[in-house]
Amino acid sequence: MKIFHRRSFLKGLAAFPGAAICGIAGAGNANANIAAPETVEAPALPWGYNELNPEYLRKLGHLGYYGFECAGGSFWAIITALKETIGYPYTLIPLPAREEVLHHLKNKNSGKHLQVMMQFGVGGVANYGSLCGAPNGASSAINIALPMAGVKEMVPRLMRYYETTPFPSDKSNEYGIKNGFYPPKYKSSKSLPQSASHSVLCHVSVGSWCENAGYASGSKERSERCARLTGDITAMAGTLLNAHMKGELHTVSPMKVSQETAGCRTCHSKGKEYETGQFTRGMMECGSCHDDRRPHLGENKLKTVYGADIGTWSGAAAIGTATGIGAHAVSRRFGKGEPDNEE
Ligand code: HEC
Ligand code: HEC
Repeated sequence: MKIFHRRSFLKGLAAFPGAAICGIAGAGNANANIAAPETVEAPALPWGYNELNPEYLRKLGHLGYYGFECAGGSFWAIITALKETIGYPYTLIPLPAREEVLHHLKNKNSGKHLQVMMQFGVGGVANYGSLCGAPNGASSAINIALPMAGVKEMVPRLMRYYETTPFPSDKSNEYGIKNGFYPPKYKSSKSLPQSASHSVLCHVSVGSWCENAGYASGSKERSERCARLTGDITAMAGTLLNAHMKGELHTVSPMKVSQETAGCRTCHSKGKEYETGQFTRGMMECGSCHDDRRPHLGENKLKTVYGADIGTWSGAAAIGTATGIGAHAVSRRFGKGEPDNEE
């Protein structure tokens, strides 16, 4: 792949009237200090990886949050670890070094603004509250290291870990109170309350943690919680990469959706049978949003699936099971290479 080559681009423009060149150069003014290289060739993806130390990644991810917030933080941490151990081609990614980030923090940001790729993922994509930045940034790094088949195996496992784990982890809380993290001064040195969000959304994750912990979303404690969470997700990404390298991903992290989600997915998975419910896709925990529709908790409007009057969602799940596509079968199928291929 060829990285954008500014000089030849400008040379190509020489045939254009002067006004057009000025127009384009003007639009690029913010980048006026970027020197055009002679040629830069970046090899095609994936770039590969080697064994990484999850505890080092936990600390780097936490530091990354201080430098670049959640998504930039996990991305920066994983790529930094790969750059430190592999070097080229990871050296091609613009990435402030660890010392530079620390210097930046010690000197109250030294008047300069550091920026990395994936930083837009902050707060669920530019503070929009959708996908949490920590798994977003980490997945982007995984996407550079692994072939797509590996990415599709690994990322859902990371997301599932996110949904089910009470954050911040014990390990992160321990580093927090025992001065085990890198930043010169922490936003909070307390052992912070832990909660599992059962959702990959920033909005839900932050909201449920705040409600549980009693801290406001703009508090230093919430911010420190997200820094520790970023460390935890980064560490897990390293654990999964290590397992993948040894061909042990499926044993180290069996992919299992919750029993409830598996029940819904007997009918609502990606497929061609519209009538049976295959007009949706996804593996998120269904109950985190469709909570009034959990089995036994609510009436549904499904009266005619397979010609039967089913009345409740548990009735729907029972019919799914009776037709041989039960929840158990679905949650087990996840462990065997995701044959239903959620493209
Ligand atoms: C036995 C198959 C089956 C199972 C199991 C099932 N559904 Fe459905 N669902 C359907 C079909 C078919 C439709 C569309 C027909 C209809 O709406 O009556 C539907 C419709 C829906 C709708 C849209 C219609 C509405 O009423 O708003 C939602 C939302 C939904 N299902 C959620 C769920 C959730 C959540 C679960 C798990 C707790 C679940 N379903 C389990 C078959 C199923
Ligand atoms: C982050 C929240 C969220 C999660 C998690 C979620 N849904 Fe939905 N779902 C929605 C919204 C919002 C709609 C659209 C509004 C509606 O139809 O009620 C929807 C619609 C649906 C529909 C109706 C058809 C459609 O596309 O409009 C079905 C069926 C459905 N969801 C099933 C599921 C299943 C099964 C899961 C778990 C695998 C799930 N949902 C997880 C929010 C969610």
